[in-house]
Amino acid sequence: MADYEVTVYTGKLRFAGTLDMVFIKLVGNDGESKRKRLASLVGDLSFTNGAVSTFTVSCPVSIGKLELIELEKKSRLTGDNWFLDKVEVKSPEGDTYNFPIYCWITDSKVHRFREGEDTPEKVSLHELKQREKDYCWRKHIEGIPHCMEAEKLSDLPLEVQFSIIKNAEFIYTAFTGLAELKLTGFANSKENWTCIDDIKRVFTGKRTDLSDYVQEHWNEDAFFGYQFLNGVNPILIRRCSALPDNFPVTDDMVFPSGQFSLADEMEKGNIFLCDYKPLDGVKANIIDEKQQYLMAPLILLHKTPDDKLMPVAIQLKQTPAEDNPIFLPTDSEYDWLTAKIFVRSADFNEHQVNAHLLRTHLLAEVFAVSLLRNVPRTHPLYKLLVPHTRYTLQINFLARARLISETGSFTQFAASGGEGMVTLLKRSLSSVTYTSLCIPEDITERGLEDVPNFYYRDDGLKLWDIIHRFVQGVLGFYYKNNDAVKEDDDLQKWIGDIFEHGFLSQEGTGIPQSFTTVKELVKFVTMVIFTCSAQHSAVNAGQYDYGGWMPNTPIALQLPPPKTKGTTSEATMLQTLPDMGTTANGMAVMWLLSKPSFDFVALGKSLEKHHSEEIPSYYVKAFQGELQTLSAHIKIRNKSLKIPYTYLDPENIENSVAI
Ligand code: FE2
Repeated sequence: MADYEVTVYTGKLRFAGTLDMVFIKLVGNDGESKRKRLASLVGDLSFTNGAVSTFTVSCPVSIGKLELIELEKKSRLTGDNWFLDKVEVKSPEGDTYNFPIYCWITDSKVHRFREGEDTPEKVSLHELKQREKDYCWRKHIEGIPHCMEAEKLSDLPLEVQFSIIKNAEFIYTAFTGLAELKLTGFANSKENWTCIDDIKRVFTGKRTDLSDYVQEHWNEDAFFGYQFLNGVNPILIRRCSALPDNFPVTDDMVFPSGQFSLADEMEKGNIFLCDYKPLDGVKANIIDEKQQYLMAPLILLHKTPDDKLMPVAIQLKQTPAEDNPIFLPTDSEYDWLTAKIFVRSADFNEHQVNAHLLRTHLLAEVFAVSLLRNVPRTHPLYKLLVPHTRYTLQINFLARARLISETGSFTQFAASGGEGMVTLLKRSLSSVTYTSLCIPEDITERGLEDVPNFYYRDDGLKLWDIIHRFVQGVLGFYYKNNDAVKEDDDLQKWIGDIFEHGFLSQEGTGIPQSFTTVKELVKFVTMVIFTCSAQHSAVNAGQYDYGGWMPNTPIALQLPPPKTKGTTSEATMLQTLPDMGTTANGMAVMWLLSKPSFDFVALGKSLEKHHSEEIPSYYVKAFQGELQTLSAHIKIRNKSLKIPYTYLDPENIENSVAI
């Protein structure tokens, strides 16, 4: 008698377990077993959530090298779904065979699974047909990336829904955010703040080390400049080698004592520009029947000899005019501070819609839907990318339902909420190029290679290289030459859908429409993983750090900017800042969105289960080791910084866009 030891691993997802009966048949190259019911002493508990159960399947003689298994789930009364991670079989010869499965079995048909070394050619047509039905594209808004078709949350396949813990935690934080921040009493207040100290008094419910720092330093020029490099929106600033025609700054304005000249400083690479042109003419929101104001500023910054990035000129509207003064640090305290407040408010809106929503959340959804729809689970690309899709479809569904819907918080309280957001999203999409999504090229294109104290760049470039080495190792194992890439229909369908549904077939984006080389494939997959993990962390994790202290990040402003200099005061500044209700609601959303989740999975973790083969397993370990080393280096570096930059510490980066 030849005994085969069969171990079945049920997944740890929500509703993953089943009480149904399970049958297995082993198929070898020299025979097959009989169909056998997998039953053990624990009976109905063999396939509960997270269960690992071992059974013996006996054959009269050895069936040779194991090639596939057949699994069937038979309903008892009602029948329930089963998420199976994998099956391991130990043969009487002492060999172990792995059958990675990682999918739902929802019917009572026979499902065949091959051993771990499935190649792209061994695709399951049946599986793909089902996936095409489960994951459909939908145009949510004309002119922006398409999303997953789902009318209600339960339309999302179980495999992409939140776990029970994540769901409970999300609902709890969403409904208790105002209370946690001790702001419940302010939520509906339409009153204006009457002094900064009042804002300080309410800003005590939840604080972080950095939000405390922000409260103390928010009005300082050096901190204002610092945020363009290491705040939540590090993608806007660029080196300035010639002043834009619509920003007529002179030497006298910015260097009144004549110690520098703009031409010389530009030549040396010491002048930088932030231009919020996409906000020009965007319709500002009306909150509580009150018109709000959103500017499209231009900011000139100077890198000083002591390596500070100091703002030297701010023009709040794009077209130069007498009633659109260029504000300077030498202006009165409140003129200059008011100008900076308008910039910070513009930055909040640009950051949320472009850097955060469009460039991470919406693109991550496109990458995920295309993967889940076009690529079978045994495909190398699926194994590589599925950890980076976790929770993305549900979080984006919730964002559409609760943040940017007609009654959503962003629509109600942000200056660009509602019609403005749609305009801004469409304009922003035209600025999304392949180059701008690849950090090494993006940094070069923006001329920021040598800027000091730019930790987003330093950590981001290292992460890019680490991810690139991992992707190259794993994909290089499966794709030995360019023909293997060209001939892989699943890969081509994946990128084809991304080009069409994510980038709306715009050739000017530089996004590939197909892959012809291994090198191209490796670069694109690196960009996908970087976007879904590191880039999202860089633009997401610090929202409360920088936005918890409202004056540093006002989500809308109630008065237009001054048309002439010398008309501002502390009183006009306070009338300009959001009212108490808008402040409280904005803080609650930022708290919800930057609170790390209880079942957070860090970059590089939980990859082993998808890579059972020896070579890919080696690259998984190497990847994890490199991330650990980088994390240690970042921690040491941060000890010497006044403001530690933690958002790209691999320990703090989530594997996927999950919040
Ligand atoms: Fe996010």
